[in-house]
Amino acid sequence: MKSQVTLTTLYKMKEKGEKIVALTAYDYPFAKIVNDSGVHMILVGDSVGMVIQGKSSTLPVTMDEMIYHTCIVSKAAGNAMIVGDMPFMSYQTSIEDAIANAGRFLKEAGAAAVKLEGGRAVSETIKAISGAGIPVQAHIGLTPQSVHQMGGYRVQRNEEQLMADALEIESAGAFSVVLEGIPSEISEKITKALAIPTIGIGAGPHCDGQILVLHDLLGLNDRHLPKFVKQYANLLDDAKTGIKQYIEEVQAGKFPAKKHCY
Ligand code: KIV
Repeated sequence: MKSQVTLTTLYKMKEKGEKIVALTAYDYPFAKIVNDSGVHMILVGDSVGMVIQGKSSTLPVTMDEMIYHTCIVSKAAGNAMIVGDMPFMSYQTSIEDAIANAGRFLKEAGAAAVKLEGGRAVSETIKAISGAGIPVQAHIGLTPQSVHQMGGYRVQRNEEQLMADALEIESAGAFSVVLEGIPSEISEKITKALAIPTIGIGAGPHCDGQILVLHDLLGLNDRHLPKFVKQYANLLDDAKTGIKQYIEEVQAGKFPAKKHCY
């Protein structure tokens, strides 16, 4: 990928039927690997709560934590678009809070856009944030911040509601929408109905792009993986093998060797 990915890039990709590839990242070394591999969009997801902080949901993640992670990811980014994920209760309390918090991602953390969860319920918020000049990516279907309201992490199948959400958030000015945990046939219809790009996660192959949580894709996670994840590497095993060898060599007096000494 040669040039900076912008909203125009994404719209053109949708028009031409070129798939948009997105991944999450939370720190400098992995953000650099992701960017340098040619991914178009890096989401600093509030999944940081589960993936990095070891929490059982995304709900405890704070604005300050998101700003911290977005800052370090932005430092590593080259051409990929950086999207900062608005954490639980950073945009639900008032439109004013939503604009101020969204603004922090661009002003303090180097993001080019923000993401927030919800459909029709947050359309006024999307309108206000994008009206302030901040590109907003919406997120509908399985929305992890509503885990308690949904009664768990459940696939969302109500086509009528999902389509209504998608159409309204597009009218409110969202530049893109993440479709999570939605049957493929419904995502296909939504993708065809919208002019803005859809980015799927557990939403089948017809979306304009795909996103996965980086640590799931790399096998850096020993938790149960959802059905929609494909693991492309097994870094957990590689890391354990390397560390075990280090332990053995230190204990056997083999490390450090002469070449590692001054
Ligand atoms: O927080 C996150 O990582 C996300 C993606 C999985 C879409 O919202």
